[in-house]
Amino acid sequence: MGIRNTSRGYGRVARGFHWLMAVLILAAIGLGLYATSLPAASDGDIARLFGVFSIHKTLGVTLLALALLRLGWSLTQPRPAPLHPERRAETLLAATVHWAMYGGMILMPLSGLLRHASAPGDFARILWPFGQRLPGLPVDQTVSAAFSAMHRTGWILLALLIALHMAGVAKHRLIDRDATLARMTGRGDLPEPPVGPRLPGFVAPLLALAIWSAAFTFALTRVPEATAPMPTAPAPVSAAEWQVEEGTLRLSVLQGASPVSGTFAAWTAAIAYDEPSRTGHVEVSIRLDSLSLGAITKTALGPGFLMAEAHPRAIFEADILPEGADHVARGTLQLAGAEVPLTLPFTLTITGDTATMTGQTVLDRRDFGIGAGYADEGTVGFGVTVDVALTAKRQ
Ligand code: HEM
Ligand code: HEM
Repeated sequence: MGIRNTSRGYGRVARGFHWLMAVLILAAIGLGLYATSLPAASDGDIARLFGVFSIHKTLGVTLLALALLRLGWSLTQPRPAPLHPERRAETLLAATVHWAMYGGMILMPLSGLLRHASAPGDFARILWPFGQRLPGLPVDQTVSAAFSAMHRTGWILLALLIALHMAGVAKHRLIDRDATLARMTGRGDLPEPPVGPRLPGFVAPLLALAIWSAAFTFALTRVPEATAPMPTAPAPVSAAEWQVEEGTLRLSVLQGASPVSGTFAAWTAAIAYDEPSRTGHVEVSIRLDSLSLGAITKTALGPGFLMAEAHPRAIFEADILPEGADHVARGTLQLAGAEVPLTLPFTLTITGDTATMTGQTVLDRRDFGIGAGYADEGTVGFGVTVDVALTAKRQ
């Protein structure tokens, strides 16, 4: 058998792609599952977790390049003709599974890459020189969660397809005892396939497309609540109101000796501020499950820490008061089932109808009963630094 496919079997290039990618795809699935099962409790854990994810992602993008080359090659090749053309349903099933596996070979790494490139916070890098973001793709928790759901549903579909494919090969080998496997190994005599009815070429690719569309639609209906738009809290007082245009809400904490920091993607602030008296009121509502804190996000949201399921929001309600040339917001923070007084010093600059503010405060996690299982600072520091920066427009 030469380089190209014939009606009797696959050529050397198709066979090379097939076996190389079969091994690498199974390895990518194994590595992905292994990576998501790793603990993230200590610095050492996190270093290992990032290491495994980096290998997974780098292997994944290599597979994307291979899949595109393979698809390009296979579209220029004849397909070996079915050995049992009279078994129409079986022939259609095999062809649909082949096309759906091509779909998976492209959509799996693509969804992984898009999830990676849109994820806020710290993450394991792809080991390549092309940067970690994609032009035009927003860095946004909601977008990233959608691609994550596709990736996590997609691998299950791909694994099912591979299992079906392997079961089909076993059936040909053990029950039909025909040359199906030999056509892909290139060993043995390959018979000329019988002439028989042929399916129109578009049926199997269309079915494969329908299967992937259904899987991804299902995945998107299961994207966690974090992606639902958040209702804006009502403005509490009647002084001039300000609408937040953009902002970041960041927290940092020491884990062992090294600082970890992350951001909340979904929060709203209702701000009223009266310029002559330099006083006002603010109510900030933060959806905890929009936190991304790198590899330890899940732990941070879980029991013992922020308990996001039982207490999905944190609310900071405060009066704004002048303090020297700057301001403070003095009020209370409700978090993880506790309500604790909190003061946030901040600087405010108003130019025309635009206000920019930056502020920083430090909370003690013990006041909120967070991380009560870590009674000393060896693993998680007591102080949690909160940084806020926002730009608001006068309404
Ligand atoms: C053929 C290629 C790929 C396959 C078969 C694959 C498979 C998997 C599997 C099985 C998981 C575990 C899912 C779970 O535990 O629910 C996973 C997770 C993950 N993969 Fe991949 N992957 C591929 C390519 C990529 C690429 C190219 C990237 C990024 C550049 C990537 C990024 C991720 C991430 C970030 C996760 C963690 C799950 C999440 O947070 O969404 N993957 N992958
Ligand atoms: C390791 C177990 C595997 C075995 C024994 C195996 C065997 C075979 C055989 C015998 C064929 C030819 C079938 C025919 O002509 O109808 C074939 C084709 C094919 N296999 Fe596999 N395969 C395996 C894994 C995989 C994996 C993991 C993938 C990718 C997800 C895959 C994707 C394909 C595709 C797309 C074709 C169609 C031919 C082409 O366009 O390359 N196989 N396989």
